[in-house]
Amino acid sequence: MSAPNNPYDPVGVASLEAEAVDSMVAEALAAIAAAPDLGELKAVRLAHAGDRSPLALANREIAALPPAAKAEAGKRMGAARASVRDALDSRQADLEAERDARVLVEEAVDVTLPTRRSRRGARHPLTTLMERMCDVFIAMGYEVAEGPEAEAEWFNFDALNVPPDHPARTMQDTFFVGNESSGVVLRTQTSPIQLRAMLARDLPIYVVAPGRVFRTDELDATHTPVFHQIEGLAVDEGITMAHLRGTLEHLAEAMFGAGVHIRLRPSYFPFTEPSAELDLECFVCRGASVGNPDAPCRTCGSEGWIEWGGCGMVNPRVLRAAGIDTDRYSGFAFGMGVERTLMFRHGVTDMRDMVEGDVRFTEAFGVEV
Ligand code: DAH
Repeated sequence: MSAPNNPYDPVGVASLEAEAVDSMVAEALAAIAAAPDLGELKAVRLAHAGDRSPLALANREIAALPPAAKAEAGKRMGAARASVRDALDSRQADLEAERDARVLVEEAVDVTLPTRRSRRGARHPLTTLMERMCDVFIAMGYEVAEGPEAEAEWFNFDALNVPPDHPARTMQDTFFVGNESSGVVLRTQTSPIQLRAMLARDLPIYVVAPGRVFRTDELDATHTPVFHQIEGLAVDEGITMAHLRGTLEHLAEAMFGAGVHIRLRPSYFPFTEPSAELDLECFVCRGASVGNPDAPCRTCGSEGWIEWGGCGMVNPRVLRAAGIDTDRYSGFAFGMGVERTLMFRHGVTDMRDMVEGDVRFTEAFGVEV
């Protein structure tokens, strides 16, 4: 005889039995607890709670159970899967907290550690001084003019009333570009910019022209073959020597302090008439050494004055070379060395310090950028 017709087949649902389910859960919990990091935990989650995990596969079997058994099996499976999910979530939270704590320690920045700061460059004191000198003139309404360093011989000499056989032309030993008949020189002075400015600009003209100049001097404490000058030029109606003097006094005070004295000493330049040497009251002894053998001054040789530049009223021949009506216009011009100005202003005694590029020299002037 056959057994009673009972659709419940205990063999077919072995995986849903309490013991089997408990052992799946135990295995899952053990794996979860053993997962050392978030990456491993992800694999454990897939293996024990994923679609193809033993618990998920067992869960599918519920559908095959007779209705009477479904509820109990469903409850058991629900509880089992929930306990695995909870364990996963809590392990996940623990591992995340662990990772966050580790990152905070590993990636912490000690803001008190000394940095490896690269040195900041700065402009050369000659550059900043030259700019400062220009600023004095810009404030008086002057414009800054420029000219080329490789200059036509004509601008550097001829137009400035220095003929080929003039002693000034040999006095200023000149670098020629190419050979001596090339007609091109490295400018020996910034004065050629006077001509260029007069040819290029409308009257009246008030310009200041800073620039590098070249002479075949050996480098020593007081000479360098490459140095800097600042040229000034004013051409207007009614310009007199008094304007020149007032302008230079203003520059001297701006550079060396209020009350400093200047002196114009008669001299000769081919491009000015009359011409004068511009002297500055000795910034060390202020004249106290003159006629005072007990307190000699090495800076001015007890002369009381030091030479700063040259100046004068623009020679009418130069004005005419630029096509300017000399009945109506007159002008003054001046030029001085920037290196000398830096020496006087800051007590620099050796020009070589200015060209050797040792930052210990330049840093003393501050890192002005
Ligand atoms: N160029 C002259 C020099 O290098 C300096 C100079 C003298 C400039 C008189 C001038 C000036 O403008 O009027 O020695």
